[in-house]
Amino acid sequence: MATEKTFYLETFGCQMNAHDSEKVIGTLRRQGYRQVEAEEDAGLILYNTCSIRDKAEQKVFNRLNDYKKLYKLGKRFAVLGCVAQQEGEKIFDRAPYVSLVSGSASYRKLPEMLSRLEAGESRITGLDDRQTDETFETEFTARQNPYRAYITIIEGCDKFCSYCVVPYTRGKERSRTSSSVLTEAWRIADLGYTEIQLLGQNVNSYRDPEGKRSFAELLAAVGEVPGVRRVRFTTSHPRDFTRDIVEAIDSVPTLCDHVHLPVQSGSARILASMAREYTPEWYLERIAWIKSAKRPISISTDIIVGFPGETADDFIKTMDLLAEVEYDCVFAFRYSARPNTPALVMIDSIPDAEKAQWLQVLLERQREIQRINYSKHIGDIVEVMVEGANPARGQISGRSSQNKPVNFEWSGPIAPAPGSYLRVKIIGAFPNSLVGQAV
Ligand code: SAH
Ligand code: SF4
Ligand code: F3S
Repeated sequence: MATEKTFYLETFGCQMNAHDSEKVIGTLRRQGYRQVEAEEDAGLILYNTCSIRDKAEQKVFNRLNDYKKLYKLGKRFAVLGCVAQQEGEKIFDRAPYVSLVSGSASYRKLPEMLSRLEAGESRITGLDDRQTDETFETEFTARQNPYRAYITIIEGCDKFCSYCVVPYTRGKERSRTSSSVLTEAWRIADLGYTEIQLLGQNVNSYRDPEGKRSFAELLAAVGEVPGVRRVRFTTSHPRDFTRDIVEAIDSVPTLCDHVHLPVQSGSARILASMAREYTPEWYLERIAWIKSAKRPISISTDIIVGFPGETADDFIKTMDLLAEVEYDCVFAFRYSARPNTPALVMIDSIPDAEKAQWLQVLLERQREIQRINYSKHIGDIVEVMVEGANPARGQISGRSSQNKPVNFEWSGPIAPAPGSYLRVKIIGAFPNSLVGQAV
């Protein structure tokens, strides 16, 4: 009797990784594999990994360590994603029970790599040294969310910020044709998805290989696909943020009122050392465009605290920028030294305790900013896409176009289904969420 082919897949890291996993799952199913919910039940265990900061990377090796006893039961292990590309064959030395190591730029070869694995081969690699021009597209994507669909429009990164692993782990920057993106958007809308999220490490660095559409034009075209009610895009890089993106949001109602625009630091000196290639003034000019839009566009950002050489004075400049922009959401990270990156050799003299304190000061200040921002919504009527319901407590949760979480009570006989859209009156606010009443 032939044994059934089963797999377990766990994903770490960003939305690009989450979406890659959907494509990997589709590829595995196509090869006759069935997905299971526990490592114990799987013949093949895959980890799709992240190495953006040291903690993310450590998680993968901890997980492999936890489960290596399963290897003795005849299970096979595969490491995919950014740690796979970064560490390459070294993973076989550190975890000899791993049989397959592949970075995201080699997923097109997955069917072939899986066949070799099934034939009993070990130490199979799919590694790419920033050579590939190909993107990973498949019609078998196993989308995990029934109403929100991801579409990767650009892969890789050519920006080489001095602290960042992505250009090394994800390969060189390459965009899909706008025709293929639109074909996928139409197909997804036909299947009933109403929210589309366009993805890219720098989504707005998109360059149509066919030369038909700019990023803003593609955004608008996706927003005009019949059936699509919400379009989001992430992450935007300030250097490629053009004014026509704001104009597109202003003129196409389905484009959401939200831009995520990572600044990293408010100090010109630190930004230069990070190789971000913009100044705080340049960044703030883009913020002014967004704020002068006809629609109320919410702005969020990423910040790195404690970059090598950062002084208290630099940190104050970041705090000043925070106060000036008044973000609705900030992801702040303590700087983490990463392999292969130029910042690795920069002298990092700030004690960890001080970095931790700066981070805390920043987050507390940001909480106050958000408390004020969110309370301004009281009295508004917003459209909410329902994400979850707790029928026992009569509570529904969802998100506004601005991506703010909205929670509200429901007393009707049938709770609104996830993926449905409702109008909600905002009656209360916290620093990270709104409280409402369905109208
Ligand atoms: N391409 C996006 C960011 C992608 S990585 C951009 O350039 O804006 C997501 C976030 O992780 C970054 O914005 C940055 O804030 C953080 N990050 C990246 N490398 C890091 C490192 N070495 N240490 C700490 N945070 C890091
Ligand atoms: Fe990393 Fe910079 Fe590329 Fe963003 S733009 S992925 S931070 S190298
Ligand atoms: Fe992590 Fe790779 Fe994404 S390093 S954040 S999974 S691009």
